[in-house]
Amino acid sequence: MASAATERASTTFRSSIDHENGLVDRAIFSDQAIYKAELEQIFSRAWLFMCHESQIPNAGDFFQTYMGEEKVIVVRSRDRSVEVMLNACRHRGATVCRAHSGNTPNFICAYHGWTYDLSGNLIGVPGMNELYERKLDRSEWGLKKAAKVSSYRGFIFATLDESAPSLEVFLGNAGRYMIDNLANYGEIEVIPGIIRHRLRANWKLAMENDQDYYHVGITHASALDAWGVARTTVNKNYWDDNVGDLVLGEFGHVQDTIPGHFHANIFPHMCIFTDLLQAVVVRHPKGPAEVEQWYFSFVDKNASEVQKREVIRRNISRLGPTGMIEQDDGENWEFCTEGAASSAMRDVPFNYQMGIGKGEMDDGSAVGFPLLRGGPRTTEEYARWQLRCWAEWMDAESWPALLEKHSNPAVI
Ligand code: FES
Ligand SMILES: [Fe+2]
Repeated sequence: MASAATERASTTFRSSIDHENGLVDRAIFSDQAIYKAELEQIFSRAWLFMCHESQIPNAGDFFQTYMGEEKVIVVRSRDRSVEVMLNACRHRGATVCRAHSGNTPNFICAYHGWTYDLSGNLIGVPGMNELYERKLDRSEWGLKKAAKVSSYRGFIFATLDESAPSLEVFLGNAGRYMIDNLANYGEIEVIPGIIRHRLRANWKLAMENDQDYYHVGITHASALDAWGVARTTVNKNYWDDNVGDLVLGEFGHVQDTIPGHFHANIFPHMCIFTDLLQAVVVRHPKGPAEVEQWYFSFVDKNASEVQKREVIRRNISRLGPTGMIEQDDGENWEFCTEGAASSAMRDVPFNYQMGIGKGEMDDGSAVGFPLLRGGPRTTEEYARWQLRCWAEWMDAESWPALLEKHSNPAVI
């Protein structure tokens, strides 16, 4: 018998998100069938941030990451182009690269030794003469590649979907502006060492927290105490002086108040911080109730050693498993994920009603992308937008269908 959630997954996701009234079906944060559909409908289609060009400057440099749950290797090949290849041997599927990053002339599978060059071509097969009698056509057994790879201002993205539009279309003016905010710091580079940690939380709860100014004075009370910042000051900044503009981008990209803090999300899994922090966080989904967060710290190559150390110090003290901010947030997302899975509360929606109808949508002719102007700074408008777009991704049968049917922020 199909469960209620499976039935829901087979109908429309639009019915899970009542964005007009700010009501959201909690199952989207906990249900296994919905999670599996997300991997197909969102993570197998969207352009996903892979790494920054500064991480793989030389031929043979590689960085291992994920597209959804798929392991991929991002490689600088001999002709200097960037390849994104599935980290799965074509013989029996074992990983051909086990290191997080490094430099290599080729990739050798540790199981039976099939060997691939930097462009994924199969160049070595142990026992080619004795065991295969030279009948194996190596040209047919190269590593599978991402459908498309592209980069914007040094930020490398890839998609698994052949029918995806260009990266430029996916990002739109709004998404490019969000990356510009970080790229404009100078000749930026990633500081070696990615901070990685796992939380027992749904990836969308992490995503929606980035623009959540409601929780700061409450969730982070102890960190604020330690830093000598009065909670009342924080709430005054975020609640009383409560006016801000919000960027709503096509396909679910959002960014909070400009100017001021810049917390930008490129849907589905990249967040760019350009306030106190110069960092990018990527959320790799690991199941409906598990997410792996990766923090990349960015500095201007030409900054002084003191400035670089300051960025590292700030990021380590706030983000990741040692970060005071991150630990506060992560614990709450875990509790929310547990709450989302409650069977006793199955029919009780989550509340996303803050700030409905506030602010004026501006088509953005002045800045080049639509803005919600003069709305509250502390609002759930951005989350309603993200989840409305999430439902559109989930309901679209293909990229062409999504392109045709997705909401245009300029006319909402
Ligand atoms: S699984 Fe890679 S060589 Fe056999
Ligand atoms: Fe937080």
